[in-house]
Amino acid sequence: MPDFIEEIVTQSKLCSKIYSYDEVDSTNNLARNLIEEKNQVGFVIVAQRQSSGKGQADRLWESPTGGLWSSLAIRPQIELSSLGMVPILSAVGITKALETFDVKTKLKWPNDILISHNLKKIGGILVEGKLTQFSLDYLIIGIGLNINNTVDQYSPALQEQITTVFEEFNMKIDLSQLLLEIINQIEDSFEILRSYGALALLNEWKQKDNILGMNVIVQSPEGEYHGKAVDISPNGQLVLEISESKKVNITTGTVIIARIQD
Ligand code: BTN
Repeated sequence: MPDFIEEIVTQSKLCSKIYSYDEVDSTNNLARNLIEEKNQVGFVIVAQRQSSGKGQADRLWESPTGGLWSSLAIRPQIELSSLGMVPILSAVGITKALETFDVKTKLKWPNDILISHNLKKIGGILVEGKLTQFSLDYLIIGIGLNINNTVDQYSPALQEQITTVFEEFNMKIDLSQLLLEIINQIEDSFEILRSYGALALLNEWKQKDNILGMNVIVQSPEGEYHGKAVDISPNGQLVLEISESKKVNITTGTVIIARIQD
């Protein structure tokens, strides 16, 4: 296992320590190894670079220096039926954290963070975890955000699709401060879920949502669906109207916007 270069103690009950690394393969993988080895949760891994960062659907997540690559290793007190809300509540927390730095974002179900003014992707979330028979053993919330890096640090194929905060606003953000803000906001989001339920969080998501009301194509592990994105359910599923009388609930997938509505 790589040696950490810094250990930071936080005020957070959810994650009381941040372990900071120079380069790791994937902060999610390292978080999982540390949990299994020490049988402990309540920490964050952050790295300046990842050599094999993981994205959704087993895609490689390019992670050059200047981005925020981190994983929260936690054991939250939530119902198993609410697990699908974890990417949603994390995304809501991340948008609020970015807003404190005047970076306005939109959200694309299930876990994309987009720059508000041009809808280019600046980040994503990869939630992994371990369930025992009836309960949640741990969760790893992996967060990747393109912040102080430049688009030319990415492969040509990605350069058209993504952007970074630096490219959009010509400013640099202190990554440690941003991470602390994200931890606080995600902790608050869990509290909203516990105290007020999923609908309170979904209301916040809907203010930032970029696909509801649109005709979309969803590529999911079960197949490809075409329809109108009409809602997100209280367990985090996308509700897609595929005909006048039929709706389907989709747990995960990649959404492609088919056509903007009038
Ligand atoms: C997506 O495909 O949109 C999700 C990307 C999640 C990337 C982050 S970077 C930190 C953490 N470690 C990983 O290997 N992946 C996540």
